[in-house]
Amino acid sequence: MIRAAVLTLSDKGSKGRRKDTSGPAVERLLRKIDAEVVSYDILPDEKALIRKKLISLCSERIDLVITTGGTGVSPRDVTPDATREVIQVEIPGMAEAMRLKGLGKTPFAMLSRAVAGIRDGTLIINLPGSPAAVKENLSAILPVLPHAIEKIKGSTADCAPLS
Ligand code: MTE
Repeated sequence: MIRAAVLTLSDKGSKGRRKDTSGPAVERLLRKIDAEVVSYDILPDEKALIRKKLISLCSERIDLVITTGGTGVSPRDVTPDATREVIQVEIPGMAEAMRLKGLGKTPFAMLSRAVAGIRDGTLIINLPGSPAAVKENLSAILPVLPHAIEKIKGSTADCAPLS
């Protein structure tokens, strides 16, 4: 069972001025790979707060942290910047795969600066903020997540091709 955390980044959401539908959308999709969401929070788009939360989640035996929101180019979008400051290893291909899939739906996909990487054995993945973008981005990498997490934990099993 994959232990997952969902972190929504939204100034409005954190003040209760917008209902978060993206965090629950992440949780629904994660059920397809039998991941259990053991932590869910909404924070404002504040880099120091996001960094602190990510560091804390990665010290709690959590396999996967999925963030949603704050990946774009607005002045308050700082999720990828906070993520880069805490990850020890980046996995560029996961973010590239999400943008590639997204570009087939909308050219706006190129505006997401989402990153993916590893801190202390925990995989952190940024997703854009809209529920549609969550679905499109997460479905691009979902089948790969269990294998990625096994490898991050040190599995030396051979990599069987994904059909
Ligand atoms: N990717 C996909 N697949 N589908 C989308 O609708 N929205 C884009 C982009 N990525 C989108 C997407 C838009 S409009 C923006 S502004 C950026 O993600 C950043 O979104 P965020 O700031 O909410 O994270």
